[in-house]
Amino acid sequence: MNEQLSERAAAACLRAAVAAPSIHNTQPWRFRFDGAGFDVYPDPKRTLESIDPQGREMHISIGAAVCNLRLALAAEGWATRLERGGKNGAAARVAPVAWREASPSVRALAGAIARRRTNRDPYDDVAVPADALEVLRRAAAADGVRLVVLDPVRRGAVLALTQAAEAWQRADPRYHRELARWTTDRGDRPDGVPAQTFGPRPTTAALPVRDFGLDLPAVERDAARFEPHPNLVVLHSLGDDSGAWLDAGRALERVLLTAAVHGLATQPMTQALEVPRLRRLLAAPGGRWYPQMILRIGYGRPVATGPRRPLRDVLLPAAGTALPVRSTAFSRAEPAGTRPAGTGPRYHR
Ligand SMILES: Cc1cc2nc3c(=O)[nH]c(=O)nc-3n(C[C@H](O)[C@H](O)[C@H](O)COP(=O)(O)O)c2cc1C
Repeated sequence: MNEQLSERAAAACLRAAVAAPSIHNTQPWRFRFDGAGFDVYPDPKRTLESIDPQGREMHISIGAAVCNLRLALAAEGWATRLERGGKNGAAARVAPVAWREASPSVRALAGAIARRRTNRDPYDDVAVPADALEVLRRAAAADGVRLVVLDPVRRGAVLALTQAAEAWQRADPRYHRELARWTTDRGDRPDGVPAQTFGPRPTTAALPVRDFGLDLPAVERDAARFEPHPNLVVLHSLGDDSGAWLDAGRALERVLLTAAVHGLATQPMTQALEVPRLRRLLAAPGGRWYPQMILRIGYGRPVATGPRRPLRDVLLPAAGTALPVRSTAFSRAEPAGTRPAGTGPRYHR
């Protein structure tokens, strides 16, 4: 039995981490592995000043990566300790602490990391069964986050707020500039939302999914009828600081992976949470639970995923470690056509 995490295993776990979802596929994270644990840092150069000036969605994205990192370590047989915050502006530190046989459910969630996708296609117009939603509610609760399933009245209200947010954002030139920067029809970009994942244009405004093709009009897309009664859930956290956002991101990813295990498609729809005066309307009465994420859930067809930056681009140097960043445990973490291995910055001694 190994008593230390091997550098090869550490690199494989980091590939799982970077497979996490992130706002506009900004992948706003950096990691340092010092042999005893992983420090996870925000990458301020990837802040979305127009829709996320506080870094709330950036921390949610980092929380999702932390969830994947811990699940991958758990699947390798490591129990981990999580600390929020840390030295030099770290958002979190994850340290393997003891051997523990991975449970079947941990293996199933870790196995779903490479399969999970944001699905922007129409879903079947059927209700997700209550027992499946209950499984998702428990997945969020494991990280202290509340998952609220929207009844038809609340669904109508959230869709109306999302439409208002879309209109608000489309009227803002800064939103367009940011969206243009983070969407792409180039096949070789390792970040941003690529054209093949935009999904079709809805034929009606009833389901206001974010239009990633707004500033790439040359990209041809089909029009399609989306489900008229979407299944929507909202994740709420107790508190609204960087620690709460990190926990919301951990819960988000656990919910998304649990959904993937149960054959459910998912899509975040967060426009209404990016306009502060609309977000306030979604807060639970009493003011202690804050809305962090809106998700559309259902049954869809397989879709492509966004690319990922290679590990060498997200690893910070650490004395005494040299991770094998050229191997590919997650094939999608090294998208075809990115910069050839060995031409990036050198981080190791
Ligand atoms: C905080 C957050 C907010 C997001 N908001 C949206 C959204 O409003 N609409 C959408 O289609 N996808 C949204 N996404 C999904 C990302 O665009 C997606 O994770 C990214 O493009 C990578 O693709 P993948 O999830 O298939 O790996 C969001 C993701 C996160 C973490």
